[in-house]
Amino acid sequence: MSLDDVLTWVSAGSREELLARRVDFDRLPAHVAVIMDGNGRWAAERHLPRVEGHRAGIDAVRDVVETSARLGFDVLTLYAFSVENWKRPAAEVSVLMELLKRYLRVELRTLLSNNIRLRVLGHYEELPPDVRRELEVAQARTDGNHGMVFNIALNYGGRAEIVDAARRAIDAGLPSSELDERQFSEWLYTAGQPDPDLLIRTSGEMRVSNFLLWQIAYSEIWVTETLWPDFRARHLLEAILDYQKRDRRYGGIAQPAIAGH
Ligand code: IPE
Ligand code: IPE
Ligand code: MG
Repeated sequence: MSLDDVLTWVSAGSREELLARRVDFDRLPAHVAVIMDGNGRWAAERHLPRVEGHRAGIDAVRDVVETSARLGFDVLTLYAFSVENWKRPAAEVSVLMELLKRYLRVELRTLLSNNIRLRVLGHYEELPPDVRRELEVAQARTDGNHGMVFNIALNYGGRAEIVDAARRAIDAGLPSSELDERQFSEWLYTAGQPDPDLLIRTSGEMRVSNFLLWQIAYSEIWVTETLWPDFRARHLLEAILDYQKRDRRYGGIAQPAIAGH
């Protein structure tokens, strides 16, 4: 994607346009992962039940998925439901499942028109049968798309993913001497995908909450106080601009500044 492409869909004179003009489109993150947090607090601030925060959060999901595809990320991963989230009241869990089902139904057209491929990370076979069906339909229908991969982490746990990968390694009968990091990553749910360059968490919490534990080894982390239902394209652009200021050293030493940059 280039600035000219982006200027065709941001409104003229908007904050998004100002931010987009500062982005270096040759150095976009290939994979952006997001811990969507703060729906409950968004609702509490408005004296509404928690589930209203989840409902409002769907608009943010829509905006971020479409913006990410338009910007041209290779992969977007959204953390939607953790293995620990079953601890929440049954009524809240059931609203989350209903919202997910409706999102998939309503947004399938947008996923198709943006050439997005949906993938589920996590044990979605343990989700209610109607949700599972909807996920299978959406994955099958978008399977031939070759634009952005949209991973939705559902019933996902980072430790569970690593244990699953270890089990696969054992089942494959690979001699332990042949197991290395590259090989191991091929048994993770994200096999074949680049690791996240940028990890975003909303609502100000400074923790990873069992998300992509292996893959975020060298991700740049950006935390915003903005609560998830208020998160929009402009926040994503702010995160990208901050990411582009970082010096990714991977344990090495700082790169000398290049003249003219
Ligand atoms: C994130 O918002 C949504 C999910 C985890 C499903 P929360 O529901 O965690 O909102 P807070 O953290 O209670 O504000
Ligand atoms: C992380 O949010 C999980 C998802 C976004 C799905 P939580 O709200 O569940 O995390 P904690 O409990 O604050 O760590
Ligand atoms: Mg939370």
